[in-house]
Amino acid sequence: MNIKGKTILITGGGSGIGLESAKQFLAEGANVIITGRNQAKLEAAKKLLPLLIIIKSDVENEEDTVALFDKVASLGGIDILYNNAGVGSPALNLGIANEEILKNAINEMNINYFGVIRLNTLFIDMLKSRKESAIINTTSILSLVPALEEPTYSASKTALSFYTRVLRKNLEILGGTVKVFELLPPVVATEMTAQRNDKKITPEQLVKALISGIKKDQFTIRVGDAKLLYFVSRFFPNLAFNLVNPKKIYASLKQ
Ligand SMILES: NC(=O)c1ccc[n+]([C@@H]2O[C@H](COP(=O)([O-])OP(=O)(O)OC[C@H]3O[C@@H](n4cnc5c(N)ncnc54)[C@H](OP(=O)(O)O)[C@@H]3O)[C@@H](O)[C@H]2O)c1
Repeated sequence: MNIKGKTILITGGGSGIGLESAKQFLAEGANVIITGRNQAKLEAAKKLLPLLIIIKSDVENEEDTVALFDKVASLGGIDILYNNAGVGSPALNLGIANEEILKNAINEMNINYFGVIRLNTLFIDMLKSRKESAIINTTSILSLVPALEEPTYSASKTALSFYTRVLRKNLEILGGTVKVFELLPPVVATEMTAQRNDKKITPEQLVKALISGIKKDQFTIRVGDAKLLYFVSRFFPNLAFNLVNPKKIYASLKQ
């Protein structure tokens, strides 16, 4: 699909992968609107990239998202909805079944899963009315294989991945023009992974792969290790589990 001249809304665009996406979509000739919960972060992004339109909005808050829709409609609407906002709460040392885990799991589902469905529901008719439009949902390498350290985050991304695949097929069957992309990042160096010592790619590398995938209408965009893990998980599920969860982390889980 063509990016030049399109208007894209990126949720959680004030930092990390979202901010890098804003930068690269602007460079591709798109008009870019970003959202987030933190006004100061959005303003800092605007200072860096003055062409950005910034709108404070929380994806899990219904009132906020309706106000976001009205504001976007008044600006002329969007062609691409890029659901990037997400949170992850590592469960390391927390055990697996307790109040803290439950609280984090609800928060992750509200933002990573229900937040996406809420925005898609609000924007779908607008997207259907455009000549060429798209939804991009950000899942994860952990939607393929769950991590012992991030069980509820992994589950939220698998839920989103299943939803994304069905959404794509449904829209295809109904004969619409809305393309549905799924981005599966590996570990990317952002605030979210600051505490992790794993091998990481840069947000710049990830977003380059995303844009290249969009231009080729490659609807499932697995990047870096997510490509390899996809095939390993299909044919050797136990090996894939052990690759994501090396024995060396068992000791820290027991602490
Ligand atoms: N980094 C990785 O290794 C990795 C790997 C796989 C998938 N991902 C996914 O990639 C996406 C971006 O992650 P990242 O690494 O760039 O994380 P990040 O640096 O923590 O950025 C997340 C962004 O989402 C925004 N956000 C969080 N909750 C929100 C809400 N309720 N409403 C609106 N905005 C919200 C945050 O801004 P505010 O706090 O201002 O709201 C922030 O700008 C996420 O969906 C994440 O799950 C990341």
